[in-house]
Amino acid sequence: MSDFTSGFWSWFVIIMVAVGIGFVSWLLWWQSRGQRPAAGEEVTSVGHVWDEDIYELNNPMPRWWLFRFLLTIAFAVGYLALYPGLGSFPGLLGWSQIKQFEAEQAHAREQYDPIFERYAATPIPELAEDAAARDIGRRLFLTYCATCHGSDARGVPGFPNLTDHDWLWGGTPEQIETSILYGRQGAMPPWQASLSREQIFSVAQYVRSLGGGPIDPVVKLQGEETYLQLCVACHDADGTGNQALGAPNLTDATWLHGASQRTIIDVITNGRTGRMPAHRDFLGEARVHLLAAYIYSRSMLGEER
Ligand code: HEC
Ligand code: HEC
Repeated sequence: MSDFTSGFWSWFVIIMVAVGIGFVSWLLWWQSRGQRPAAGEEVTSVGHVWDEDIYELNNPMPRWWLFRFLLTIAFAVGYLALYPGLGSFPGLLGWSQIKQFEAEQAHAREQYDPIFERYAATPIPELAEDAAARDIGRRLFLTYCATCHGSDARGVPGFPNLTDHDWLWGGTPEQIETSILYGRQGAMPPWQASLSREQIFSVAQYVRSLGGGPIDPVVKLQGEETYLQLCVACHDADGTGNQALGAPNLTDATWLHGASQRTIIDVITNGRTGRMPAHRDFLGEARVHLLAAYIYSRSMLGEER
């Protein structure tokens, strides 16, 4: 329970709290004591005057007022006995934020898991046709995935568009589900240490021409040589990539990091790593199943969904 780095701070807090409560209790007692007129004695001024005609009298303080203060002191003592607050003393109830959070989570799981489990045995292509299942998947997506892939699932540079037919790691229902369950790590190595600026420029031009663009024949010759030496292992000889490694297809119009010459040169120079986090332990297989169906429906069955 305690986040204190040493027992000293725990005791420091306990002593300061105890001294504080003791001090206000004493103050209250001291203030409610004196200045009471004796029985039968007239109420008189104690001699303090403000603005010429406001006198301080020797009345005792009103009881309701004192009582209210006593109540706050009693509340503080009770609260500190039951709940954490006194240094690292956990409180008699054993309550903690983490325990409350976990209890609420368990309660939510108990309530919602049956809803997700109902779909767990249905194959993804079938779920993708089921409007109710897709709706649940969309809501899960907005909660857990939109921060990286965008609320429309179309991604941003470095975070892939999930609505197209262009897949880094594969677009079959199983491959999509595996991506979400276990995460993915794409690593494009940096080449600035082994290639000159000129070589990087020519191989970048070559990459840009893979989709069928124009290229200077001399640049192409040098770029192709570098490409066949260093890049084919992952991006394949024809540039169509390799889904087992998450190496993108370089021949199409879809770019993970950007289509401009500057971006492509930067990617080749400095490399890129993309990390899709694993969601199996975090969300559970039933939710991931629904998410996979939602993604599959977005990509395979058309944009309008
Ligand atoms: C070890 C495998 C590997 C090798 C070798 C490799 N790449 Fe890559 N490359 C990748 C991966 C994986 C990505 C995707 C990075 C990511 O997920 O962010 C990538 C991304 C790229 C991109 C960005 C594509 C996009 O859609 O934005 C370009 C351009 C690229 N590589 C060019 C090259 C060139 C040129 C070479 C050779 C000099 C090369 N790569 C060598 C694995 C590799
Ligand atoms: C922290 C950011 C982040 C979050 C959160 C995240 N993703 Fe990803 N996701 C990525 C990145 C980055 C990649 C690309 C990995 C790479 O470069 O190879 C990716 C890749 C994927 C892929 C593979 C795409 C392909 O082209 O093969 C799928 C499917 C996917 N994410 C779905 C999801 C779903 C569903 C969720 C919500 C449960 C989610 N992602 C949450 C960052 C994220």
